[in-house]
Amino acid sequence: MKPFHQNSTPATGWMMAWLLAAATCSQGADAPILLRDVFKEHFLVGTAINRSIATGVGGGRRAQDQVDGDVALTKAQFNQITAENDMKWQLIHPREGADGYDFAPADAFVEFGQRHGMHPVGHTLVWHSQTPNWVFAGTIPPPESATGPTSEGSRREYAGPRTSREELIERMRDHIHTVVGRYKGKIKAWDVVNEALADGGPEKVLRDSLWLQIIGPDYIAKAFQYAHEADPDAILRYNDYGLENPVKIQKLVTLISSLQEQGVPVHAIGTQAHLNVSTAGFDQMDRSLSEIARLGLPIHVTELDINTASGGQRGTGADIGANAAATQGGQVSDADRRLADAYAGVFRAFVKHHQSVEMVTFWGVNDAVSWRRFGSPLLFDGDNRPKPAFDAVIRVATEARATSDQ
Ligand code: G3I
Repeated sequence: MKPFHQNSTPATGWMMAWLLAAATCSQGADAPILLRDVFKEHFLVGTAINRSIATGVGGGRRAQDQVDGDVALTKAQFNQITAENDMKWQLIHPREGADGYDFAPADAFVEFGQRHGMHPVGHTLVWHSQTPNWVFAGTIPPPESATGPTSEGSRREYAGPRTSREELIERMRDHIHTVVGRYKGKIKAWDVVNEALADGGPEKVLRDSLWLQIIGPDYIAKAFQYAHEADPDAILRYNDYGLENPVKIQKLVTLISSLQEQGVPVHAIGTQAHLNVSTAGFDQMDRSLSEIARLGLPIHVTELDINTASGGQRGTGADIGANAAATQGGQVSDADRRLADAYAGVFRAFVKHHQSVEMVTFWGVNDAVSWRRFGSPLLFDGDNRPKPAFDAVIRVATEARATSDQ
């Protein structure tokens, strides 16, 4: 039995959803088609949402009427939400100490989910990125080898005097207990550790992050243990990108098998699936899901998007931060059709693996709010109109239902 059962949306929400879908659906004005409905026998369909959507307040890149449209589309199409940024350490716990938390945006996110009958997912507790410097700071001089601009990849990390292993463990424990504890019973799944695996060749399994350098490899097990203490009913995920790459999958298997042998409470694998249109499709996703499924854990597709920017078609081993900068340079030719084909392929693979795949979360509601907006990677354009890729995904659901009805 899958731990996530399909919630039905309250009647008022459903009516609004129907009206919105009828107005926006590309397949006819009287044929409301909702992602969350067409896949309800298979998995939840969710989206990351930004602070404007959670609070309903426009400004910055999205004017109020655009945010209103983003909110309406979110409520209509999806039954699961993830906070794109507001639960990351830098935003929810920017300053040291018990008074150092800013809970308001995260609270708004959780309330949005509860109000609209959606499952809110927590992202993320322990990550090498978007963690404020105070977390790692102390009085111990950093080793010579670690004072370069970064300890790994393209991101600049804190390079000053460091805290001790014991104190960092204490800070991590307090943070996890406080944040998970606050949303106990409201947030059913957490990305506990994010992107701990190294990119590149097989020789190095773990990313050379400050967490690893200061605490050692057991920071991962401890993070899961603390999250479990704070909410024993929560589904605890390990989440990473590039799990389409056979070398990285092997590292995942090494890490998770070792955690399982130690009895660490890791309950699901999050595969981000930030894909590129030149390689994404059924074969790649089928292979990846088959390998991940060997771990015997539910799979959550946590951050799905498919980049069509010609500058972003790099391999799956690429550092995800560097890939963000490679979304410009115009789109690949015939982008709409190729995106539709790629999405059809990956959704066929999700349906094939629906015994393992419990949820599929898009990383953004529409192209305009995407971190890869120059690569138009989602199913809806910046005006919230469905693209050919939306129709292609719906067709996969229709085919799947026709097959199961036979
Ligand atoms: O909120 C500030 C705003 O006040 C300021 O004016 C503006 C100036 O740049 O920055 C805003 O913050 C940005 C934030 O997104 C909100 O838009 C940060 O600079 C920017 O770095 C941040 O990027 C996020 C990125 O993670 C950072 O790590 C993206 O939105 C978010 O989509 C992306 O998501 C990650 C997942 O968490 C983990 N997996 C990879 C995925 C893509 O990189």
